[in-house]
Amino acid sequence: TLATEIAGRTFDNCLMNAAGVRCQSIADLNKLIDSTAGAYVTKSATPVKRAGNPSPRMHTLPKGSINSMGLPNEGLDYYLDFVLQDQANRPGTTNFLSVAGTSLEDNLSMLHQIQDSAYTGFVELNLSCPNVPGHPQVGYDFDRVKTVLTAVFDFYTKPLGVKLPPYFDLVHFDQIADILNQFPLTFVNSINSIGNGLVIDPHAEKVVIKPKGGFGGIGGAFVKPTALANVRGLALRLKPEIAIVGTGGILNGQDVFEHILCGASMVQIGTQFGYEGTQIFDRISQELTAIMAAKGYTSINDFKGKLKTF
Ligand code: DHB
Repeated sequence: TLATEIAGRTFDNCLMNAAGVRCQSIADLNKLIDSTAGAYVTKSATPVKRAGNPSPRMHTLPKGSINSMGLPNEGLDYYLDFVLQDQANRPGTTNFLSVAGTSLEDNLSMLHQIQDSAYTGFVELNLSCPNVPGHPQVGYDFDRVKTVLTAVFDFYTKPLGVKLPPYFDLVHFDQIADILNQFPLTFVNSINSIGNGLVIDPHAEKVVIKPKGGFGGIGGAFVKPTALANVRGLALRLKPEIAIVGTGGILNGQDVFEHILCGASMVQIGTQFGYEGTQIFDRISQELTAIMAAKGYTSINDFKGKLKTF
């Protein structure tokens, strides 16, 4: 079985989509509900609908993707209405509502609205969007992370996790974990895209996306070693009550296996889900099941976090 559990909520499959990819519309979200994914996460919401950055704003390559979408989304009411309706239709299921205010005030107003609603699922507070010009990634400003979480947990009492950017220095792992451990977080999701990479077309001698002079968040196969380092680095440092959702560079069952070895309880798939659509959850489920069967594992708990070192 590929079932997993986070904070007492059970999921029949540890695979799900990553926020941003094929989850902006109700049609997209209904396809996820009808898939074998164990849960879905909604496109990161802002208080009001946004059109996002000008196109072209995403480009895919064999080894990954670059995007600078700029938070196009339908606004919080659209996603909150959807998850409330789904919660009523399918009691006992848990999903992820992603929020990504471009200011602390926007995040707090959205979280107040969610707190005051009947929603009982998870919130994924995105502290790592790299693509809104003039708004730095909160996750790289440690004092700011503490300020935001202090303000959030002053009133928010439902299950909440944070989506983090990738870190590249072990001292930064220590510093972010020390802050996160001070709060009653349900999970952390690591990693968001590697921010502000640059992909160019040498033939045209030109960048491939329009916003920000061509700079954008990198996802896909390129980012797996960084994602595994962040999942592992956080698993070794966070208190055990904080579950880890692993995201980054998942193309197949082996990649999922590696994320779980590093400590992920659930994994999210972005770039490759964009290529393949919801069929990917069937394919990767079969691949992971085969790896587990060959090793004699019957549950992801048999190997979760059990990476060996010399
Ligand atoms: C966008 C990109 C992100 O990586 C993210 O976390 C949120 C939003 C975007 O450009 O829309």
